[in-house]
Amino acid sequence: MSAEQISNTFQKAMNISGSPNAVSTSPTQSYLSQYFPGGNQQKTSKALKPFSTGDIKILLLENVNLTAINIFKNQGYQVEFYKSSLPEDELIEKIKDVHAIGIRSKTKLTEKILQHAKNLVVIGCFCIGTNQVDLEYAAKSGISVFNSPFSNSRSVAELVIAEIITLARQLGDRSIELHTGTWNKVSSKCWEIRGKTLGIVGYGHIGSQLSVLAEAMGMNVIYYDVVMIMALGNSKQVDTLDELLSKSDFVTLHVPATSETANLLSAPQFAAMKDGAYVINASRGTVVDIAALVQAMKSGKIAGAALDVYPNEPAKNGENLFNNDLNSWAEELTSLRNVILTPHIGGSTEEAQSSIGVEVASSLTKYINEGSSIGAVNFPEVSLRDLDLDQENSVRVLYIHQNVPGVLKTVNNILSNHNIEKQFTDSRGDVAYLMADISQVDLADIKSLYEQLEQTPYKIATRLLY
Ligand SMILES: NC(=O)c1ccc[n+]([C@@H]2O[C@H](COP(=O)([O-])OP(=O)(O)OC[C@H]3O[C@@H](n4cnc5c(N)ncnc54)[C@H](O)[C@@H]3O)[C@@H](O)[C@H]2O)c1
Repeated sequence: MSAEQISNTFQKAMNISGSPNAVSTSPTQSYLSQYFPGGNQQKTSKALKPFSTGDIKILLLENVNLTAINIFKNQGYQVEFYKSSLPEDELIEKIKDVHAIGIRSKTKLTEKILQHAKNLVVIGCFCIGTNQVDLEYAAKSGISVFNSPFSNSRSVAELVIAEIITLARQLGDRSIELHTGTWNKVSSKCWEIRGKTLGIVGYGHIGSQLSVLAEAMGMNVIYYDVVMIMALGNSKQVDTLDELLSKSDFVTLHVPATSETANLLSAPQFAAMKDGAYVINASRGTVVDIAALVQAMKSGKIAGAALDVYPNEPAKNGENLFNNDLNSWAEELTSLRNVILTPHIGGSTEEAQSSIGVEVASSLTKYINEGSSIGAVNFPEVSLRDLDLDQENSVRVLYIHQNVPGVLKTVNNILSNHNIEKQFTDSRGDVAYLMADISQVDLADIKSLYEQLEQTPYKIATRLLY
């Protein structure tokens, strides 16, 4: 088999057309040199070469952050970038020959659109939500989807720190007063936060960051979580929500929206809190019963509240959108003193946007180059440790198939002519994903290996990396 024939075989295995031999640096090496300067010298694992990276086409819409574009360009991928979303017919045309697409929340990737995406292996949602993508159809078509749920954790934690001080010092009220010409220099019921107790409900990505920041400000931190989580610093986990409520001067919520967390704070919980305590919610709007909060504030039980999220939120920016038509208590809430209301901006910072760019682009690159689906939202999460540098003639097999009995037996029969160094498989719903590193593979055998896997009855997609 000539070098050109072998190259063509790989092109076919990747379902990618274009000139072979276009790239001399392997994708993994170029990624490492950018993000871990000097790391290449110590690297003892083999960089996989999935294909000629110059032939990988990525379509980026909706002004995805520059950090992502740089990562893709450094890989040698062809990047087509648009500041806005595309009309459906244009998107259908564009999606036909790209291998990856990056979107934010406006682009809807429906079944109708995805049906045309014959070469697509991966979708990157450069945001938190993924409901703009038909996740099930994508998975059944062998397309994995990644997002960035945690890149803005620090931004939320910092906002909460600001709100703790702002509530304790009634800064919102003083600022509004002075904007309207009123000079009101008071110290009554204004506090330092040093030595006060912060109760964090939900000690995940945001809650735990906040814990560290709050301790640095001199606060005592306690937290309640449904799972046991190791305490950071001097913080302490408490056994029940009631215990947290009864001990905290500030209660802040950092839990997901689930049926268990709906109205987690309502009238009985406000009653269980210390007199004059403060409430902060930057998690999800369903977690606090806001009508009950309004009553607890009117009675003086709660001294202040900061809300960033609401059960119903306007779909766009604009005046007069936050009103009683949207949420029945809106006018009562906005008329209260020492209440900070923000329009779901907890994670909205420049830093969060750029780290979303890095996080999602890195996930896509790792999936394209190495097959790792860790963090995928619609797909079985599978990864294998790197191949060693001295492992020549090794091939990584990526095989996506319907989750039905007997498939592994068929696949392992095909692989059994080679040494299976390691193998991992997992399933999620109707879709399963197998990764295997096999050694002692003659390059000339790859075409046959690929064709045999392609012909198996329940195959969704096959990729070979070498
Ligand atoms: N305001 C914003 O702009 C913004 C930005 C990012 C995230 N968020 C929201 O913040 C919340 C927390 O995000 P995260 O990244 O820290 O999530 P996470 O998944 O890292 O942590 C959530 C924690 O809550 C715990 N938990 C779940 N149910 C619970 C319950 N009933 N009682 C107590 N603990 C419970 C979990 O065990 C976990 O430790 C989420 O709702 C997220 O959507 C808001």
